[in-house]
Amino acid sequence: MAVSYPFSSKISHFVPPKQWASMRVARDLEKKTGNKIIHFEKGDYQGPDFYTPDHVLEATIQALKDGYVRYDPGPGLPELREAIAAETSKFGRKTKAEEVIVTAGAKHALTMSLLTFLEEGDEVIFPNPGYPPDEVWAKYVRANIKHVPLTKPDWQFDLEKLESMITPKTKLLIINTPKRPNGHLVENPEAIAEMCFRHPNLMVISDEIFSHVTFGKPHKTIAAVPGMEERTIVIDTFSKTYAMTGWRIGWAVAPVPVIDKLSIFLQDSITNVAAFIQKAAYAAISGPQDWTVEKTALLKQKRDRMIAGLNSVPGIKCDVPDGAFYAFPDITGTGYTSQEYTDLLVEKAGVAVVAGTAFGSQGEGYIRVTYACSDEDIDEGIKRMKEANLVK
Ligand SMILES: Cc1ncc(COP(=O)(O)O)c(C=O)c1O
Repeated sequence: MAVSYPFSSKISHFVPPKQWASMRVARDLEKKTGNKIIHFEKGDYQGPDFYTPDHVLEATIQALKDGYVRYDPGPGLPELREAIAAETSKFGRKTKAEEVIVTAGAKHALTMSLLTFLEEGDEVIFPNPGYPPDEVWAKYVRANIKHVPLTKPDWQFDLEKLESMITPKTKLLIINTPKRPNGHLVENPEAIAEMCFRHPNLMVISDEIFSHVTFGKPHKTIAAVPGMEERTIVIDTFSKTYAMTGWRIGWAVAPVPVIDKLSIFLQDSITNVAAFIQKAAYAAISGPQDWTVEKTALLKQKRDRMIAGLNSVPGIKCDVPDGAFYAFPDITGTGYTSQEYTDLLVEKAGVAVVAGTAFGSQGEGYIRVTYACSDEDIDEGIKRMKEANLVK
């Protein structure tokens, strides 16, 4: 007899995320047909160009041998918190080690932050397009989600529109820069900060996971604007800077009273991040940075290769993003919707991408394409897209 499990009504919105749909379809198709799919849909590094640096691997083995295999007291190894504080200070947010918490990735820091601040009836403003996993936790606590549409083609906040959405119930504004899904940077953190100062109850969560993956224009954090350090939680990660996506380690920087609450959350949920992983992260952040510099230069070449390729595909126009490892081409010239184009592309050409609408309604007319893969895959994917000639 089928068991009817008494799930909490709070998880009634738990469904597989839209942005994973392409990954599932691609995997199933690959299994069924045995044909190689080109994976432009993954939000991850692929292939040997982007293995975690050797000195990080060696530090991990050493840490295991040295006995970093017990519960760590949290909220992070002192030397790692110091190093993260120093790194954050370089972006202009003067940071002390006590203002840092080490988490199991940026997503974990985002989850804890949302659950620490939001409750039923509160309002939270997310950018559209944005990063939907955050919204799961706002919905969990029955907060009211508002979406502020970013203006095209440069995907910036329309500050007048944003401010008109803020009410006394608005607790959180979520920013992400360099932006997912389109790689653009938030250009005007000072102006956003000025607006925030007019709303004393408003906190900002600034998701800066690609802070070290920019191609010329510098990354700017809103937390560096004097006064904003008191009301901003900056979230960052080792995933993207050091190609450590599977290591699950990131951090949050926030005022000490916020870190104190997050620390209890961390302790009571996962009893802190594995100590040997923290030693690995310390090796990454305190060791030689040439690897990161070289990898960013390589990503820039791949970006240019991908953008040039996309602009040669019928019906597609793509601008040049300043950071992250995504392109977000406009596909309206094909005559298809984002989802139609995405479905046809994997079926007819064996190229997986993510429909722009997976990141919000403003993503209609766009697809997200990851270029953190091999040059061969970029060339093969573009060739297939051209040959498929998907134009209505
Ligand atoms: C905007 C954004 N925030 C957070 C994350 C999660 O990062 P982490 O691997 O550190 O959990 C991602 C992952 O791609 C992301 O795109």
